[in-house]
Amino acid sequence: LHIAVLVSGSGSNLQVLIDAMQANILPIEIVGVISNREDAYAITRAQDAAIPVAVLSHVASGKRMGIKTFETHASTQLQAWQPDLIVLAGFMRVLSGSFIDSAPAPMINLHPSLLPAYKGLDTHQRAIKSGDRHHGCSVHVVTAELDAGAVLTQALLNVTPKDTAAGLQTRVQRLEHQLLPWTIQLIAKGVIDLNIAQTTPSVLPA
Ligand code: GRF
Repeated sequence: LHIAVLVSGSGSNLQVLIDAMQANILPIEIVGVISNREDAYAITRAQDAAIPVAVLSHVASGKRMGIKTFETHASTQLQAWQPDLIVLAGFMRVLSGSFIDSAPAPMINLHPSLLPAYKGLDTHQRAIKSGDRHHGCSVHVVTAELDAGAVLTQALLNVTPKDTAAGLQTRVQRLEHQLLPWTIQLIAKGVIDLNIAQTTPSVLPA
């Protein structure tokens, strides 16, 4: 499975995929990484693994690259890499419907909540504020509507009264590092069909 990964930040999820690729734990080849931030540590991780990186920074040279310009460059890059799957791993820009529809491969996103709860930002704080007993992360198909595509997989944890938003973030990130490779494995094996709108997400075994 040829994978392109879109990132904006630390890239710890990208690192998990790099490690799994190098250890032959996952049948993947990461054909390229796109970062929309020039200061993302994910860029260093990709370079260290000799993976092609395109930095399409929206703040380069002090001038904000509009989403249309970003998408034009990203499209060209993705067409050149020819991935079978595009993975958004900590990618923090909202993509347009036309970009998603014309992408050369299906796109999945990792989101730090049990969707459909808490689309968007500040998911951990919102889960605590609502007094939720369960929280976690989801991998879903990317569609034009933010965080609203078919939920493919989820990983759950119990929220305890002493949990803080920062603490939950750390615990959820540990789960993300298991959920993303597990999901990609299921896609590679054909267990998950990205073209079928699933109603029941697969849950990562505890
Ligand atoms: C993850 O928590 C992801 O859910 C969120 O951003 C974080 C990315 O982490 N959208 P990393 O860049 O993979 O380390």
